Amino acid sequence: MARISNDKIRFFYSFLQSPKRIGSVIPSSSFLAKEMFRSVPFSNISSIIELGAGTGVFTKLIAENIMPQTKGLIFEQNDAMRNKLVEIFPDLHFYPNAMEMADIVQKLDEPAVDVVISSLPFSNFSQEIRTQIAHDIHKVLKPNGMLVAFQYSKQMKQTFEKLFPEVSVTFVPFNIPPAFVFTCNKIDESSEKNAVEENRLW
Ligand SMILES: C[S@@+](CC[C@H](N)C(=O)[O-])C[C@H]1O[C@@H](n2cnc3c(N)ncnc32)[C@H](O)[C@@H]1O
Repeated sequence: MARISNDKIRFFYSFLQSPKRIGSVIPSSSFLAKEMFRSVPFSNISSIIELGAGTGVFTKLIAENIMPQTKGLIFEQNDAMRNKLVEIFPDLHFYPNAMEMADIVQKLDEPAVDVVISSLPFSNFSQEIRTQIAHDIHKVLKPNGMLVAFQYSKQMKQTFEKLFPEVSVTFVPFNIPPAFVFTCNKIDESSEKNAVEENRLW
């Protein structure tokens, strides 16, 4: 008989208690995890945020791949799951609510981050919360920062496209349920302008 891991049991139990907030019955697959981090330049970033860590499928990859000086800020609203992650990953910084992300980042020595990884179940949120979190993500990112978010539908595509000049979407069939991965680049407008100016000079 196939062995079901403690993480899967904990995740499913949390889902039964709060299905809309958890948003899925089991943790993400390794295929989805691979796609989420495909374009994250781990050796070139000084900060990374994860929103909706769950049992830590992505948190583990962050902890294993970030440079020692890189700050990892992890948000998970479920107390039981977050407390477990605090024990496993003592070098990362944990917070309960993605809605507090902007305030928390503002208080950092460097008040902007390079990458946001999101597993938040946006489609289960009210329109107001959805819009606020999407705007906060854009706000906390550095000028050339990147958001990678997975969703089970394309419902958030327009919202992301309104905020980010470059949005690409890939599909991961080997996940329950299959998922879309949105990679959204903020793009540094000042360096774009400089490049245009330089081209003009030449
Ligand atoms: C679909 S699960 C993804 C879990 C994990 N990242 C994975 O891929 O297996 C979404 C997670 O977002 C968390 N979550 C929902 N709303 C949140 C919020 N406002 N702040 C932080 N975490 C939240 C849920 O508790 C849940 O663990």
